[in-house]
Amino acid sequence: MSHIYEALQRAEAERKAGLAGVATDPIAERAPEHPSLVSSLAAQRSQHDGPIPVEVAEEKTAAMPPEFFDRILRRPWNPSLERLPALERGGMPVEQFRSLRSRVQELRDLKPLKSVLVSSGLPKEGKSFISVNLAINLARHKSSKVLLIDADMRCSALHQYLGAELQPGLPEYLSGKATMLEVMQTPQEAVGRDPMVSSVLENITLIPGGEGNDMAADLTASKRFEELLTAAGPFFDWIVIDSPPVLLVSDAVNLARHSDAVLLVARSGVTTFPVAQRAQHELKAANVIGFVLNAAEKPPMSGNYYYRYQKTAV
Ligand SMILES: Nc1ncnc2c1ncn2[C@@H]1O[C@H](COP(=O)(O)OP(=O)(O)OP(=O)(O)O)[C@@H](O)[C@H]1O
Ligand SMILES: [Mg+2]
Repeated sequence: MSHIYEALQRAEAERKAGLAGVATDPIAERAPEHPSLVSSLAAQRSQHDGPIPVEVAEEKTAAMPPEFFDRILRRPWNPSLERLPALERGGMPVEQFRSLRSRVQELRDLKPLKSVLVSSGLPKEGKSFISVNLAINLARHKSSKVLLIDADMRCSALHQYLGAELQPGLPEYLSGKATMLEVMQTPQEAVGRDPMVSSVLENITLIPGGEGNDMAADLTASKRFEELLTAAGPFFDWIVIDSPPVLLVSDAVNLARHSDAVLLVARSGVTTFPVAQRAQHELKAANVIGFVLNAAEKPPMSGNYYYRYQKTAV
């Protein structure tokens, strides 16, 4: 049981004590957004008693033919920098995502892990925010190649964070209307004025959410998603998949079936313990590697696996 899970449990008990007898709706009682983030993969890490594994070089893409990436469409991106703290040059936000990245990396050193699905119980808990910022941090590290998939086809958001085109995207691929290469895009060479931003985003390939449609549940259940991960896998060091809320639609469970690991997001002051518990339960057949506590004002308790940053502009 992760510390974050326990913290949510404790917060729920405190909330109940303070609001005895009052029926509450986790969405309706949403707290104002707080600009800090705490992340943890304590559950798995605490089971690993040995020394922290040394990070291994991301060697996979080095051997890959460059033609694959030459064939991906370059499109104009205009990233929303204020929502991408992982792109900052340094400071606490970057450290936060670096910590999250190194926890995921540690798990990879224990067993093969390439595709990571990011999910949560309910909307607006920060799945897309964590997905895109984690992808950026992964791409910063040793120039890793990262495939970022917007699999929330009903409520796509990743194209907005990156200022990218929405179509064609995942539904066009899953329904057989487009090939894998046709739905992938990378940024045109110069993204903004900062060369560091350009060089990091260069390493990200986006499959956007495409034309939203009501067929998302059927599409995510199709064999095509598994085929996509299999076909794209050898070209990328990481695949990060943003998903819809697991308690509202079946898509995330379908997607998790084919992903190597699942990260669950809980939003501080918003996500209640029963919601986190139910989300984890829904994904019990998947490899849930931990919780990310998003937008926390301060660490819920002291310990090795809690990190925080303070940022006022996000
Ligand atoms: N740590 C944070 N600090 C500041 N803003 C945040 C943070 N996390 C998320 N947000 C903002 O909160 C809003 C909701 O976040 P996001 O879109 O990532 O949620 P979601 O779980 O993907 O929602 P949905 O289920 O609707 O797709 C966005 O405007 C996002 O930029
Ligand atoms: Mg989202």
